[in-house]
Amino acid sequence: MEDMFRLVDCEEMFSKRCIWVNGPVIVGAGPSGLATAACLKEQGVPFMVLERAECIASLWQKRTYDRLKLHLPKHFCQLPNFPFPQHFPQYPSKNQFIDYLQSYARHFDINPRFNHCVQSAKYDEISGLWRVKTVATCGSVKNEFEYICRWLVVATGENAECVMPDIEGLGEFKGDVIHACEYKCGERFKGKKVLVVGCGNSGMELSLDLSNHNASPSIVVRSSVHVLPREVFGKSTFELATLMLQWLPLWVVDKILLVLAWLVLGNIDKFGLKRPSEGPLLWKNTKGKTPVLDIGTLEKIRSGDIKVVPAIKRFNEGCVELVNGEKQDVDAVVLATGYRSNVPSWLQEGEFLSENGFPNGWKGNVGVYAVGFTRRGLSGASFDAIKIAGDIGQLWKQETKQKKHRTIACHRRCISQF
Ligand SMILES: Cc1cc2nc3c(=O)[nH]c(=O)nc-3n(C[C@H](O)[C@H](O)[C@H](O)COP(=O)(O)OP(=O)(O)OC[C@H]3O[C@@H](n4cnc5c(N)ncnc54)[C@H](O)[C@@H]3O)c2cc1C
Ligand SMILES: NC(=O)c1ccc[n+]([C@@H]2O[C@H](COP(=O)([O-])OP(=O)(O)OC[C@H]3O[C@@H](n4cnc5c(N)ncnc54)[C@H](OP(=O)(O)O)[C@@H]3O)[C@@H](O)[C@H]2O)c1
Repeated sequence: MEDMFRLVDCEEMFSKRCIWVNGPVIVGAGPSGLATAACLKEQGVPFMVLERAECIASLWQKRTYDRLKLHLPKHFCQLPNFPFPQHFPQYPSKNQFIDYLQSYARHFDINPRFNHCVQSAKYDEISGLWRVKTVATCGSVKNEFEYICRWLVVATGENAECVMPDIEGLGEFKGDVIHACEYKCGERFKGKKVLVVGCGNSGMELSLDLSNHNASPSIVVRSSVHVLPREVFGKSTFELATLMLQWLPLWVVDKILLVLAWLVLGNIDKFGLKRPSEGPLLWKNTKGKTPVLDIGTLEKIRSGDIKVVPAIKRFNEGCVELVNGEKQDVDAVVLATGYRSNVPSWLQEGEFLSENGFPNGWKGNVGVYAVGFTRRGLSGASFDAIKIAGDIGQLWKQETKQKKHRTIACHRRCISQF
């Protein structure tokens, strides 16, 4: 590897602050990055975590609403090798989850480099090394760094950026317009007519919160949606589905879920919530869409406290025009229109990354890995983290054994978390 290292264009490499990382660079200090870091610690592999925010789990700390709880039972959400505290409820609150993640980082002594936003990551074919460029912000001062490493772990999440829809006339609308990631609590919307655009888990739950705070929410459902009860007869629907999948084919489980949903929730079609033609699990697998786990919104829709409206045609100054021709006065708009990954904007890699993310799972060809991109939430992230750390751990042990007999290549600084 030393020879390869010498071949890298040294002049360019050292024109900015250039840092050799012993072991992998992990981009992102959310649950996925933390889980990978912890598993690498267990393997004795040093690493560097780069995080654009000034804290761990920035999605959970900065971009989620107050009433948020994990939708799945806690044992599906804990990260590897460190269980949730016993006293946590079945569905921990967002603050409990953040506390847990902070303890997790402390327990494994994970100290990310905060305020380091990765701008690009490129594999250098000649040297066989990754070159990861960041901009580090400290107050108003910005500095560029380049991290050089053998392995790169992408852990920036499927929800890194907000999706802002391009709706005709939205710029002319005079009321407040916020994305769901800015929404904290319905208190500020008390007495207001609020249009919630989007009926995923965010849109459904924010409508419920708005209604609980005496606002008048309408929710835009432009296509179809699967709504399932969070629990069926006291048992988590997700857990039931997972159990059934061990014995039954997916299409059968989908049919059973739909029957159970009908028994608990009744016919939701009549409220304007049309179900997709595929079952909920197939819908998730083929379209990547997460079924809504209902925690009370449907009851409010049934009672008329939350109105369901069809797609938007356009906005005017103080009202919205819908595709069915109806016009509604609106005081504020909450765009619960979802999130997307930012990986295509910075990862310069041809095969592993496609338009739809990382279709081949957690491992690429040239020392690049992806954690938390298989649309399986926190349990999927833990699974990826264990696999990635095992794979890198093995390579690390082979390479470090060989290195004992060699001289170390020239580099300015050699840093790691160990
Ligand atoms: C409102 C909401 C509720 C959710 N609830 C659940 C739930 O109950 N259960 C569940 O399983 N899933 C839930 N999810 C999905 C959730 O996103 C994931 O489960 C979890 O946060 C994924 O962790 P992650 O580390 O992969 O991504 P993230 O939590 O998004 O962490 C990625 C980190 O990477 C950082 N980053 C991004 N780009 C860069 C860059 N260029 N350079 C450096 N750092 C960067 C970000 O700042 C962030 O800290 C929810 C999502 C949302 C939006
Ligand atoms: N407690 C929890 O566990 C919890 C809570 C909230 C979110 N989450 C998770 O967070 C992730 C993101 O959820 P999310 O609800 O924010 O996003 P999402 O699931 O991607 O849903 C986005 C919604 O916005 C709609 N939409 C997008 N553009 C639109 C437009 N121009 N007009 C009308 N509707 C539009 C989409 O409709 P189409 O389907 O027609 O495109 C969809 O209904 C998911 O994985 C979710 O499960 C979890």
